[in-house]
Amino acid sequence: MSATSDAPRRLTVADIGRMHADGQRIAMLTAYDYPTARLLDEAGIPILLVGDSLGRVMLGYENEIPVSMADMLHHTAAVTRGASRALVVGDMPFLSYATPEAAVANAGRFLAEAGAQAVKVEGGVRTGRTIEALVKAGIPTMGHVGWTPQSANQAGRVRVQGKSREQARALLGDALAVQEAGAFALVLELVPEQLAGAITERLRIPTIGIGAGGGCSGQVQVVTDLLGLDTWRPKHARAYADLRSTIVEAARAWAADIATGQFPAAAETVRMDETVLDDALGRSALDRGLDMPAGGIPLDRDL
Ligand code: KIV
Repeated sequence: MSATSDAPRRLTVADIGRMHADGQRIAMLTAYDYPTARLLDEAGIPILLVGDSLGRVMLGYENEIPVSMADMLHHTAAVTRGASRALVVGDMPFLSYATPEAAVANAGRFLAEAGAQAVKVEGGVRTGRTIEALVKAGIPTMGHVGWTPQSANQAGRVRVQGKSREQARALLGDALAVQEAGAFALVLELVPEQLAGAITERLRIPTIGIGAGGGCSGQVQVVTDLLGLDTWRPKHARAYADLRSTIVEAARAWAADIATGQFPAAAETVRMDETVLDDALGRSALDRGLDMPAGGIPLDRDL
């Protein structure tokens, strides 16, 4: 890319910090593929998260646990090819950051192989040392507390976190630990609005809420919920489009046009010079219009 190119500059974590300092609310969407990343980039979304929700919404798994490093790197690379301006955050999958050493090695792959600019890890106090190691290694890191999908086997069913006094204090401690470890932003998932607001007020880094009310520094939504791609979406999500109906209707209309012979029409069809075809088929212009024999072109006409 030349120095005079009009291509937009890739946002960095410093830009996100400046947006927060300027009081701008930060929008983050998940993205999992090249065409969607291009569109979200065109829409000016500053942060694209290649979430491990990939497992549920794109790969058809029951939850996030089966998502592998290979899955995440494959999809993160597609997103970074599609988005030229957004900061791309790769979500570290289950067990890929179980020790600080493993975390640095795996997070390095998100940056070096998949082109992400940052990674996200779940957990508060328990993940502090890991976040410290990542940041020390030069890997911008986003935290994630509240409901953390990778803990589903320990935590049980999906539910709002921090509703009791003890839980609220623990969650505040988790958020502070993530900040002190050096994270540049923190996702708050399924947290009561007042608690999320209180945490946001006490942190220097931006909080990005999902099901955490309007008092966070920014919001994140799973893109398939935003686009209305499924029949179900969580209560906290809002659909801004009904792509499910659009896609089903488009597929049905196309199949119907095939059935009635209306697709393809002249505009979707390529024709060639008839004389060239006559020559190729060994027929004269006078033969044109004769019905093709059932067995295809007779051998004597081939020569
Ligand atoms: O994986 C994901 O999509 C996430 C968001 C819900 C924050 O972690």
